[in-house]
Amino acid sequence: MRLKDNTALITGAGRGIGRAVALAFAGEGCHVALAARTRDELEDTAKEAGAFGVQTLVLPCDVGMPEEIECTARETLGIFGRVDILVNNAGYATFKPVWEITPEDWSRSLDINLTSAFLFTRALLPSMMARRSGRIINLSSVTGVKALPEQGAYCAAKHALNGWTKSLALELRPYNIAVHAVCPGGVDTRFSREAMPHRDKTNWMTPEDIAHTVLHLTSLSPRVALDIINLRRFDGEPLA
Ligand SMILES: NC(=O)c1ccc[n+]([C@@H]2O[C@H](COP(=O)([O-])OP(=O)(O)OC[C@H]3O[C@@H](n4cnc5c(N)ncnc54)[C@H](OP(=O)(O)O)[C@@H]3O)[C@@H](O)[C@H]2O)c1
Repeated sequence: MRLKDNTALITGAGRGIGRAVALAFAGEGCHVALAARTRDELEDTAKEAGAFGVQTLVLPCDVGMPEEIECTARETLGIFGRVDILVNNAGYATFKPVWEITPEDWSRSLDINLTSAFLFTRALLPSMMARRSGRIINLSSVTGVKALPEQGAYCAAKHALNGWTKSLALELRPYNIAVHAVCPGGVDTRFSREAMPHRDKTNWMTPEDIAHTVLHLTSLSPRVALDIINLRRFDGEPLA
């Protein structure tokens, strides 16, 4: 029970990577606050996580809405008292050539992949800083370190997320708060199935593969600086 009585807030916890992270944390005794838009999916995750004997919080929230982020963070702190681990996982992508990307696509990509991580961090940081303890894990992507065609808005957001992660890691080190970005290549989830319906996903990573890495990060000493973590498929997907 490596995370016994720790608390975590995980965005995008209704399915895919976020759900797998929530279950991996719960399996180690961590209480989990689960945020996403679809209540039913959150409740499913909460039911499975609760079977490990931890407390769960279901927090329907659109991370594209700053006031909902504020409420979700406040409610989590109000009920759990503190957040030891923040996992900014909710993501959005629309894969199109630049001439088809609308200003709305562009803003949405930045809002969901980047600004929501900033706003959740901003809301929870004061309590982490006061306790001089905490860990922030941002779900980035291979597209945060490598350019891919027809993924401009997504690439821009995930590159920015990585830049911000690196800066934050340095800034928060004196407060004993560790900050990481995990940058997976292909993971078989609804997100990738919708964005890339024709790609063969036989050898793609699973949400659980990514969750194991996220869980591993929580065991690192805060003296270890490991800001950007690249994860690629074993079938030769190139490292950046
Ligand atoms: N799958 C891949 O190949 C891959 C590779 C690299 C990085 N990633 C990153 O991994 C993260 C998780 O993706 P995934 O593959 O696990 O996707 P997924 O299976 O589609 O799950 C995405 C989760 O995020 C939530 N979400 C999406 N938009 C949201 C919003 N506006 N507000 C609140 N929650 C929202 C979804 O719930 P609701 O729809 O109910 O809100 C869902 O719970 C993303 O940041 C993605 O960029 C994925």
